[in-house]
Amino acid sequence: MPEHIESICAESAPPPCSIVIFGASGDLASRKLFPALFRLFERDLLPEKFLFIGFARTEMTAEAFRDRIMAALKLAGINAPRKFMDFFLSSVEYVNGAYDSPESYKKIEVLLAKFEEGVNSAGRLFYFSTPPNLFSQILKLLESENLVREDYDGIPWRRVVVEKPFGRDLESANELERELGITLKERQIYRIDHYLGKETIQNILMLRFANSVFEPIWNNRFIESVQITAAETVGIEHRAGYFEKTGLLRDMFQNHMLQLLSLVAMEPPSSFDADRIRDEKAKLLNSLRPFPTNPSSLSNLIVRAQYGKGMLEGRKTPAYAEENGVAENSMTETYVAAKFHVDNWRWNGTHFYVRSGKRLAKRISEVAIKFRRIPHSIFGNLNSYNISQNELVLTIQPDEGFSMKINAKKPGSKFCMGGVEMDFKYSDLGGPGADAYERLLIDCMLGDGTLFIRKDSIELSWALLDPVLKIWENPENLKSNPIFLYEAGSEGPVESSIVFGTNSDSWRKLKV
Ligand code: BG6
Repeated sequence: MPEHIESICAESAPPPCSIVIFGASGDLASRKLFPALFRLFERDLLPEKFLFIGFARTEMTAEAFRDRIMAALKLAGINAPRKFMDFFLSSVEYVNGAYDSPESYKKIEVLLAKFEEGVNSAGRLFYFSTPPNLFSQILKLLESENLVREDYDGIPWRRVVVEKPFGRDLESANELERELGITLKERQIYRIDHYLGKETIQNILMLRFANSVFEPIWNNRFIESVQITAAETVGIEHRAGYFEKTGLLRDMFQNHMLQLLSLVAMEPPSSFDADRIRDEKAKLLNSLRPFPTNPSSLSNLIVRAQYGKGMLEGRKTPAYAEENGVAENSMTETYVAAKFHVDNWRWNGTHFYVRSGKRLAKRISEVAIKFRRIPHSIFGNLNSYNISQNELVLTIQPDEGFSMKINAKKPGSKFCMGGVEMDFKYSDLGGPGADAYERLLIDCMLGDGTLFIRKDSIELSWALLDPVLKIWENPENLKSNPIFLYEAGSEGPVESSIVFGTNSDSWRKLKV
């Protein structure tokens, strides 16, 4: 009989390659990318031969750029010995220039060519960490300066990481895809959704498909509803310029929330392979019932709101409309709650509720699966409505883990029943592991696209949300689809319960 395996952990360092980060003087690079690269280096997961080039318009020497990285690492709480940091920094170069100047790309090519001398088939990763309006420019020059062209067999590899937003509607997303498609093959494009890099999101796949107890009950017969929440306590911070034009539906739903929903509800893929998983996710997105194009029907299924003044962690916080850079009469939503129908055999009759918002009572992202009531109670005068429903809650952040609520005999009198929780916390295993960007950067260097979004998912998500945006953006529909107000630090707008219709459901409390 084969021995069972307690745990299988496989991770290998990628082959030699270089990473060029466009937008290296920006916020994302300092907060996420530098710390992620350094942590990979600490874990011995960067290639043995590795070059990291930062590119930005800011004029600075490579030395000044290295100092900037050091400062970013300190800010991220990394305090490695100086010698170790210096070793990491010895692989770092900086190029400053204009995004539309061929000269700048020639400078990059000189550094890359020098690094690649004598290295067998070094790969190249170009990370677009710039505002999206620069993507097309960068692509054109990468192509004309021959930095990104790949042979038919993809050896040596050339890949591009694209940060969200992937367009702002179906049309602009298609335009971006068209531009990417002129220069690159699909296998070279890595569209990042950092939620997919979180350990607990990957755990959805393990939980569903590495256990025999869940999949048989993962359907409409046993599951009454699924609630997906991504609540934040932060407001829009210094991102008013971006957020005012974007709003929460584009910022969180088009990508993170729909990706989460598809992982929870998709059919089992035939293997743990990027394309097989992405096929199933796309199929699921295709099964989501389109939102109504009639404004008054729409308002029963999706609710938008904006935060007002309030109190959070003991301090007063301004209303969204009072934030720097936000128009006084802004119609941008900072909260969305919606009900989705999955139109297939597995899920017909199961309710999917999804909500996300800023400046809410607590920072928490979770997927809560509520099982149906027992069909018949054998317990005397307790009927099935008196007995709590089982619940499986996957907490994505901040206390990563999952718990199962079950009814059990409590100690004491003969008939003493109550809910108990079987709880698993990642912190018991020494923490949730790698940061999302570490995971995604290494996967990209290894050529594993499982946790990246494929073109069809982008298209399907926009196709689903475009009609909603069209209705919301027309001021004539404000009456039928108002922007409700909620107090900062609260559970969200009371009107969010509209999506439950006549069902007796309610949103799970953020703060208990
Ligand atoms: C980003 C959004 O994609 O995700 C932000 O643009 C949001 O508005 C962030 O705050 C949330 O990510 P996390 O990992 O902090 O939950």
